[in-house]
Amino acid sequence: MTEPLLAIAGLNVRFATPDGEVPAVRDVNLAIEPGECVGIVGESGSGKTQAFLAVMGLLAANGRASGSVRFEGGELLGRDRASLDRIRGRRLAMVFQDPMTSLNPYLTVSRQMTEVLMVHQGLDERAARAEALRLLDRVGIPDAAQRFDHYPHAYSGGMHQRAMLAMALLCRPALLIADEPTTALDVTVQAQILALLAELRHETNAAIVLITHDLGVIAGLADRVGVMYAGALVELGPAAAVFANPRHPYTRALLGSTVRLDRAGGDLVAIDGQPPNPLRLPTGCAFHDRCPQTFARCSSEWPALRDVAPARAAACHLDSA
Ligand SMILES: Nc1ncnc2c1ncn2[C@@H]1O[C@H](COP(=O)(O)OP(=O)(O)OP(=O)(O)O)[C@@H](O)[C@H]1O
Ligand code: SF4
Ligand SMILES: [Mg+2]
Repeated sequence: MTEPLLAIAGLNVRFATPDGEVPAVRDVNLAIEPGECVGIVGESGSGKTQAFLAVMGLLAANGRASGSVRFEGGELLGRDRASLDRIRGRRLAMVFQDPMTSLNPYLTVSRQMTEVLMVHQGLDERAARAEALRLLDRVGIPDAAQRFDHYPHAYSGGMHQRAMLAMALLCRPALLIADEPTTALDVTVQAQILALLAELRHETNAAIVLITHDLGVIAGLADRVGVMYAGALVELGPAAAVFANPRHPYTRALLGSTVRLDRAGGDLVAIDGQPPNPLRLPTGCAFHDRCPQTFARCSSEWPALRDVAPARAAACHLDSA
């Protein structure tokens, strides 16, 4: 059997803080195939961003990742910065959640984009400028030719996000991690960006990890969906099947009864109670004090993610034989 494009196994991320260790990501296992789009959902603080920053080797200085992250057959965790930079520039790209902090404020957008192409793809300046401008135009920057030589501060929040996406697409990555790529955008531009991502998959067979609060976005693009709670992946399966018939009580709560998935803007519903403080995670299932179906075993034993049906997995004692 060939290896998946990305194989995350036993991934844990811990942050050292003055109040103690924060277990931000807990034992995540996930394999992604070329061309596949996997959506990742979960409440704020559930570990979505940190899990994929760990994949990229970009955790904050107080963070440590353990486990294994194999990409195109090689281990990423523990690599030196130079070899990670080579992979990140060419094969693996991420659009960050906070686009305002991701472009270098001291360099024009054109310079930042052309440099990537000159360094990683060996293009000369003219060809690099033409290709960069083409992408900027394609992500829907209005008057891209005029804005190309501007500094990032002249771009609005939405334009930043689109410029970041254009930067991430420059080298035609095999895996694009997009963290809330449409959050700051209006509905029309959102639709353009999603269409662009769909085209990218079609043209280059790139795999996409789509981290989002918007279930409509997932329903429109993702083949599979992973649901995170308190740092752990609690449900994983084909998006249509998970939405139609969620197996985990948290997924059911998250989907609510009124969310319309056939419309854009199917935002997550608020559910009763608070997510647990990561410094004081409850024993057993981290969801047990909010779960309508909790029973004795839930407060003492941690439910691991296990296969519950073909292509479906859930981390719940109700689903164990
Ligand atoms: N540098 C850090 N030091 C300590 N804790 C951190 C650090 N960075 C993140 N965390 C914690 O890690 C946990 C997971 O955060 P993460 O950013 O992955 O959440 P998220 O699911 O992406 O949320 P959101 O939907 O709000 O983006 C949170 O409890 C967060 O406070
Ligand atoms: S393990 Fe128990 S508390 Fe956790 S989701 Fe399942 S039923 Fe609810
Ligand atoms: Mg996040």
